[in-house]
Amino acid sequence: MKTGRDTMRPALPGMMPGLLLMAGVLLATPPLARVGCAAAGPVEIVCITCHGGQAGHLGAPVALWRQSVHAGNGVACNDCHGGDPNGKNAEEAMDPARGFRGVPKEIEIPAVCGNCHVGVMNDYLASEHGKALGSGGPTCVTCHGNHKVVRASLDLINEKDCSRCHSYDRAKLIRDAMVRTEGLIVSAGEAVTAFKDEGADVERLEKGLFSLRNRFHTLFHDQDVEKVRRESARIDAELAKIDSVLKGISETRRHRKVVGGVAVAGALLAALLFHLLKKTYD
Ligand code: HEC
Ligand code: HEC
Ligand code: HEC
Ligand code: HEC
Ligand code: HEC
Repeated sequence: MKTGRDTMRPALPGMMPGLLLMAGVLLATPPLARVGCAAAGPVEIVCITCHGGQAGHLGAPVALWRQSVHAGNGVACNDCHGGDPNGKNAEEAMDPARGFRGVPKEIEIPAVCGNCHVGVMNDYLASEHGKALGSGGPTCVTCHGNHKVVRASLDLINEKDCSRCHSYDRAKLIRDAMVRTEGLIVSAGEAVTAFKDEGADVERLEKGLFSLRNRFHTLFHDQDVEKVRRESARIDAELAKIDSVLKGISETRRHRKVVGGVAVAGALLAALLFHLLKKTYD
């Protein structure tokens, strides 16, 4: 997979003085302000500095992109639009000879995103949506947006967005098949985190849950209700196993608390007896 970080690495040497300056500023600022800076994301490349100062549709993408999961993971303008983030001016930065491809056309969008999200792209292309690419089907940005791409969730499947091109019925079938499993994954995650905070060894459970969660979140793009139902049922069965291990942990902990309580009561009783005995002999 070609990641944003790989493509951004060449940008570093040329920006070293800028980085040193930034580091100086960061060290001089109080901790809270530093948190704000870190959240601003990757290095400022020329695309961002120039477009950030443009009005209207040329500048708007910058503010939107800053709020995206991509900005936080080092995926920047040139990762989708091509071009040279080290270019000295607009001509160099947006030179087709340096890979600049401008605004992708509708039918090109899945390939642009699929550069990194290969599995999702393949599922999408094989689905009814992918087959209708260019003839009324949605592309990745219809559902996820182009610049303000955020973490995906079932909230993306809703009546307003999914009834634009067809009835909501079939969208609802998929959502209904996923919503129960989604809830189970979330509550198992919360229980595991709580035990972890208490110091319990939950590493294996955590790994198991992580891979189940990933398996679950790859189901949507096929648009295949039967497959979603079948796989969700399998995942539910795995989750039930995790749940019974969690119940076991909480039983042991309660037991330990009772035993601990008895020990403390015993010690107090002994202290009291000692005190009384001491009094009688004094
Ligand atoms: C010095 C300023 C400057 C720099 C640097 C620059 N751009 Fe641009 N960009 C512009 C201007 C002005 C336009 C509109 C005129 C044109 O197309 O040349 C534009 C157009 C675009 C468009 C097409 C918009 C449309 O509606 O057709 C995209 C996409 C784009 N730039 C992306 C990038 C990327 C990616 C980079 C960095 C690799 C970059 N730009 C660097 C100023 C800049
Ligand atoms: C994750 C991929 C991705 C990233 C990152 C990205 N863009 Fe885009 N951008 C797109 C796509 C896709 C379109 C075409 C959108 C459409 O058809 O809805 C687009 C459209 C544009 C346009 C044309 C907008 C218009 O309304 O005409 C400009 C300008 C632009 N991008 C600039 C940028 C700049 C500057 C950055 C960096 C801050 C950036 N993009 C980052 C995917 C991306
Ligand atoms: C250069 C590689 C790259 C490109 C191109 C790219 N992405 Fe991403 N995308 C990433 C990375 C890296 C993440 C963060 C992964 C993580 O932390 O889980 C991400 C995260 C996402 C997420 C959130 C995933 C989640 O866990 O919920 C969505 C949705 C997404 N991208 C959609 C898109 C769309 C739509 C496009 C095209 C417009 C696109 N991506 C283009 C690399 C890319
Ligand atoms: C019809 C709407 C729709 C289209 C089209 C669509 N997605 Fe999604 N996508 C979703 C929904 C809904 C989810 C959340 C599913 C879940 O929570 O399990 C999602 C989840 C994701 C995720 C996070 C889960 C994972 O498997 O990593 C990524 C990344 C992603 N989509 C990228 C893309 C890309 C790239 C395309 C185009 C090739 C695309 N999506 C097309 C609706 C869509
Ligand atoms: C831009 C238009 C558009 C949007 C928005 C859209 N769809 Fe579709 N959808 C289509 C087209 C076109 C087809 C294929 C032709 C048909 O079956 O109507 C389709 C087919 C489907 C199918 C049927 C697959 C099958 O096997 O029969 C499902 C399920 C579906 N869409 C779910 C969704 C969900 C969920 C959303 C919202 C996240 C959504 N769609 C948003 C255009 C759209």
